[in-house]
Order: sequence, then structure tokens, then C-alpha cells
Amino acid sequence: MSELFISKDLIHLRNKRVSYLMHILPGGIPIHLYYGKRLEAMEPRSLLRHHAIPDDGTFSVQGCSLDHVPSEYPSFGLGDLRQGALTVRRGDGTASCDLRFVSAEIDTEKLPLKGLPSTHANGEQTLRLILKDELLGLTAVLRYSLFDDCDAIARSVELINDGQDTLSVERAMSLCLSLPTRSYDILTLAGAWSREREMFRRPMTMGECSVGSIKGASSLHTSPFVAMMTPETNEHLGEVYGFALVYSGNFYAGAQVDPHRTPQVMIGIHPDGFGWTLEPGESFQTPEAIAVYSDQGLNGMSAQFHTLCAKHVVRGKFADQPRPILLNNWEATYFNFNHERLVDLAKTAARVGVELFVLDDGWFGKRDDDTTSLGDWFVDTNKLPNGLTPLANDVHALGMKFGLWFEPEMISPKSKLYEAHPDWALHIDGRTPIEARNQLTLDLSREDVCEHVYHAVADILAANPIDYVKWDMNRHFSNIGSSSLPAHRQRELPHRYMLGLYSVLERLIADFPDVLFESCSSGGGRFDLGMLNYMPQTWCSDNTDAYSRCRIQYSTSLVFPSFAIGSHVSAVPNHQTGRITPLSTRGNIARSGCFGYELDLNSLTEEELAEISQQIKDVKAIRETLLYGRFYRLLSPYEGNDTAWLTVAQDGSEAVFTYERALAQSYTNPPVVRLCGLEADAAYRVEETGEIYGGDQLMYSGISVPLKWGDHSSASFLLRKI
Ligand code: DGJ
Repeated sequence: MSELFISKDLIHLRNKRVSYLMHILPGGIPIHLYYGKRLEAMEPRSLLRHHAIPDDGTFSVQGCSLDHVPSEYPSFGLGDLRQGALTVRRGDGTASCDLRFVSAEIDTEKLPLKGLPSTHANGEQTLRLILKDELLGLTAVLRYSLFDDCDAIARSVELINDGQDTLSVERAMSLCLSLPTRSYDILTLAGAWSREREMFRRPMTMGECSVGSIKGASSLHTSPFVAMMTPETNEHLGEVYGFALVYSGNFYAGAQVDPHRTPQVMIGIHPDGFGWTLEPGESFQTPEAIAVYSDQGLNGMSAQFHTLCAKHVVRGKFADQPRPILLNNWEATYFNFNHERLVDLAKTAARVGVELFVLDDGWFGKRDDDTTSLGDWFVDTNKLPNGLTPLANDVHALGMKFGLWFEPEMISPKSKLYEAHPDWALHIDGRTPIEARNQLTLDLSREDVCEHVYHAVADILAANPIDYVKWDMNRHFSNIGSSSLPAHRQRELPHRYMLGLYSVLERLIADFPDVLFESCSSGGGRFDLGMLNYMPQTWCSDNTDAYSRCRIQYSTSLVFPSFAIGSHVSAVPNHQTGRITPLSTRGNIARSGCFGYELDLNSLTEEELAEISQQIKDVKAIRETLLYGRFYRLLSPYEGNDTAWLTVAQDGSEAVFTYERALAQSYTNPPVVRLCGLEADAAYRVEETGEIYGGDQLMYSGISVPLKWGDHSSASFLLRKI
């Protein structure tokens, strides 16, 4: 079990592998002492010498210079000249905050954060560090939970106004952490539609480096994640600290190196456009942040995140279940379908072994393209004259589950809903609403709108036999105004939107526990630990091209496990890139996630259908390993022509190796890739070839990969321990 030790001025959290230490300075300011490999001494007071900074009289408070100390939760306005985690303004317009230690308390149970997604514990304790600014009448409760089975710490902050004055919170990070004074590289994920989560690694120098979103969602363009690693760190070796936010809205994730060369990492709600009024008696809860530590390179960091996701983030009956292999009709038909065409597609899907048939966009209102009908969640009887239930029944009769697409957070100006409730869209009086994909965003900061959105989905799920929901969201915020909020609370709107969305999702997953939910936002535009807390899988990208997917899935795996990553085989030429890749490669890459197809099976040849049938049969046999095994990145598409990764079953009995070469090379030996995570003294049979290797040979010498002629050739081997 993880342990929690509290002496009068020293706090030590540790599990079997890591320690996290804090110290309360004589004046009551909590500072960070250490986060890294486990320390055996429970009370290692010698560490205090690291922070014996001479008091040079600069911004000195009770013998310490605030601008030097690694405060656990620094605030703006009283001598710490760095960015600070907290800015609070009081009624007279001044901003200053001076949080001092009151007590450290232990909760034997980790309670969910009110209204927000959060990790759940399996018996681990939570530390509550209670700080107070007497002048403001502000209490801050800093929560820390260190998990037993992964080296992750969940942190969050609750701010309580227990004074007499109205307070205004302008910045409230979820986590601030001073790292040891060393050189670091910083790694962030950023991209765009169809190019989500590209990896960017650069040396951290003096100053700030960050990513963030003020788009109303974690977004296609950046991810609420940042990692700091020593420059020699690679996939397998070296120290790395990873940080992620359990939140799906606006965020900031970054680090600044202070004049004393100490990096300070912060992650939380983006302060731009944010503000929260705290009347006396009110409180504000930040989202939860996660910090993980690994001394085994980036693969080690990912293993911590993956275990966290599996054991402490995803919930419900699908959390550890084999996910159904699906066929989605989007790239097969787009908006052009009717009952017969869908059933024809479903018949072929059933024949090749698909387990779930998903009807995507276009089944409701008068939606023959993307210009109308969002909000009008009633069946388009031109396309489906018999409604949804007969279609679902036809699909069920073929032995498959039935899934349905929704985009419940949106409203088309051309819709009955907009005619009835134009004020339900985010809007600023006097300004023309700005459309994106011909749609506006519903104002989920309003309870009546949330109630409506809940029923729009729940009533359909209650009335029809639906097994799966794809929850899409296809535009970012503009015209950020709500008719239900007073002027001084308009800055609360983006976060109130998230609270509204989370309340709807919480109700839906509670009321429909047998429905599998998949999150989507123009592809992977809201791929974060927040959505994963409600929906155990996320559509990774609208880019289904196998080569692009090598890059996208490689970098997505930095934080997210395979069971969270929706990935489908689609048609060639690919609809996003025009690239032609072999069907075998499309299958090999897609099967490393929640596997499925997204193409018109009825336009394929019998040979292609036979190949698909075999792909599905193979995946069913090794699905548990592919989804829930330990994932190792081996060769990076960001560094060269080749991509390789390996998934090792949790019990070590088998492993699946995947390899793709982007551009063919003439006159070369077959590539040889060294594996990892196997047992050195065990023997493994390669099922596809019958060859037998020692684990030591596979890890120290490698496996040679015979490749077929042509670009985008790939191989995938099943290694069985014998
Ligand atoms: C965006 C999604 O990412 C696609 O998969 C598809 O569902 C479309 N929306 C439908 O409009």
C-alpha cells in the first residue's frame, strides 16, 4: 500500500517505487522537497539543506525569499515573481494571496471530485493539505493521492471563501511542481485536424514553454499533457516526469525555468478568458491533474499512464472488456443511405465477423449534408421510414450489436430547435453568431439546456435497442456569451459549459450502463483523461490512412492505452490523404487499438473480404493482448522511415509485434528490431512462421522482419511463449 507520513513540518507520500516529499517552512509556506525514486528514510531531513537559500533580503518573509523557494502552490502578488499557480483579487480590486499551512489531514477514502471527472482509488489514502490566507478569508485544500499500482499522483485544489468579502479567482492551476535543478527537454503534443498529437521535443531553456487551449475543448491542436525529461532520456532509458489533466476544456500545460534555473511545471485551466467569482461561503474546485514519474524512459512513463487509465480512470462494465469489432458507415456512405443500403452493408459486415454496426451522422432531421438539423434528434423517415428500432432489430438479427452517432452539444441554425430556442446557443447580443461547419454550440452552462440535451439522447436510448453511442463534437467556441449568466460571471462560461457537459454524461452513463460510449471530436479533438472517465474509448483521428495512423497512434500512446484508441481500416485511396496502402498494413496498424472498419464492404472483391474475415478472426484470438497488454514503442515514425511497437500480454504468455516501413528501400537486408518486455530465459514461437527464438535473442539481438515489395509494407507477428 502507499504510505503517508506526516510530521509537524515534513510530509512524505510513497509507494513501493516513488516518494513525494513536502516541507512546511517555519513561516507556514509549504514547499516541495522531492519527487522521484522511493527514499527509504521516512523523515529524510537532510533534504532540507537543498533549500537552504540565503536570505538576501529580497522579498523576504520570515527568513525566506519567496522568489526562490519551490512553493507547493505559489500565488501572485507577494514577492514570488514567477508566474504563480493562483491569482485571487478581492473586492477592493487588489490581487494578492498568502496561503499558510493550517493542517495536513488524511482521508482514508478518495472521493470523486464534485461535478468533475476524477480518478478513483482502490483503497489508497488522500492527503489534504489545508492552507489559509487570513486576510482574504480564503482556504485552499490541496489534495494528493498516490496510487499503489502505478507511480502516479492525482492532485487538485479546492478554494473556499470563508471570509466576508467577494473574491475573484483569476488563475487556479491544478498542479504546480518544482523539479530538481537540472537540464531538461520538454515534450508536448500538438497538431491539427487529421494530424492530431504530433510529438514536439525541445531543450528547455530559461523562460516559458507551454501548450494550451482556449477553444472550449482540449482540442485537435494541443493536448493537456506535458513531459519533462533529462536530455539523454529515450523510449527505454532515462528520467521523465509526465503531467496530464483530467479535464476536457480550456487548459494550460507548460513549464518555466526561473532565474535560479529551477523548472516549475504547471497544468490546469487556462487563465485566459477564465474567472470565477467566489461569494462568501462558495467554493471552487479545480480539475484533477496527474503527475507520473519514470526512470525507464518514455515507455516507462506511458506504462504509468496506461495503468492509471485502466485501473483508475475508465469506469463501467466495458472498462476491461474485449471491445466489439465494429463497422461504421461514415466513410462507406456519408449522408447517402437508407434502410436497405444499411442492411446490405450490415449483412456483409456480419458475414466477415463484425460484431457492432454503427450508424453515423445523417439519420435525423433533414440532414443530407452538414448544413442542417443538429438538435432535431428525431428520425429522418425519408431515409429510415420504419425508424431506428426496425433497423436495430435487423442488425441484431444478423448477430451484431447496433450503435448510433449523436452530436448532442450542437445546434444547426437550420433546425427546429434553433427556431424554438435561438438563445440556447452561445451568443453575444448584437453580434452575428459565427458558424463553424454550419453549426453553433449549445449553451451547456444552462441547466435547462443540459436537461434538454440529456433527454434528447436518453429518450432515444430508452426507446430503441441501442448498444453503442458515438458522441461527437465538431466545433470550437466563439461568441462566448450566455443569456443566463450575469455580467460578472460571463468569464465562468467555458468551465460552466464543461460542468454542464459532465453532468449530462454522468447521468447518461449511470442510466444506460449497458451502452458502450465512444468519444469523438472531429476525430481526436477531445482525447483527454476527462472524457475517458465517462467513455472508455475515443475515436483517435478522422485520418484513417495507415501511414498517418502510425504517427498519430505512436504519439497518442504516450498517454493513452490501446483500449482507448479507436482505429479503423478504411478504403484506398484514403479519403484524407489519397494514399494507397496494402489492406494488410491497414489491418496491422488499426488492430493496435479498438479495431473496426469504415468502408463500403460491398464494393470490395471476394479476396479482399476473405482477407478482412481473416483479420477479424486473428484479432478476436488476441484481442485481450492487443487492448490490455503492455505497450512498448520501439521505432519512431517521427525519427525515421520505420515504425514498430510491441504489446506484451499482462501474463507474459504472448506478445504482438507490429512493424511498418513507409517508403520501400531497394537492395537492403530485412530490418532487425530489438524487442523488450519479454522474459530473457523463455522461448517464443513466432506463430506466423513457426520459428523459435529465445527471449534473450529477441531482446538483445532482435527479430528480422521480412517485408513485401512496395511502399507501406508491414508485418505483424504473434509471439507465443512456449
Ligand atoms: C466527425 C467525426 O470525426 C467523423 O468520424 C464523423 O462522425 C463525422 N463527424 C460525422 O459528421
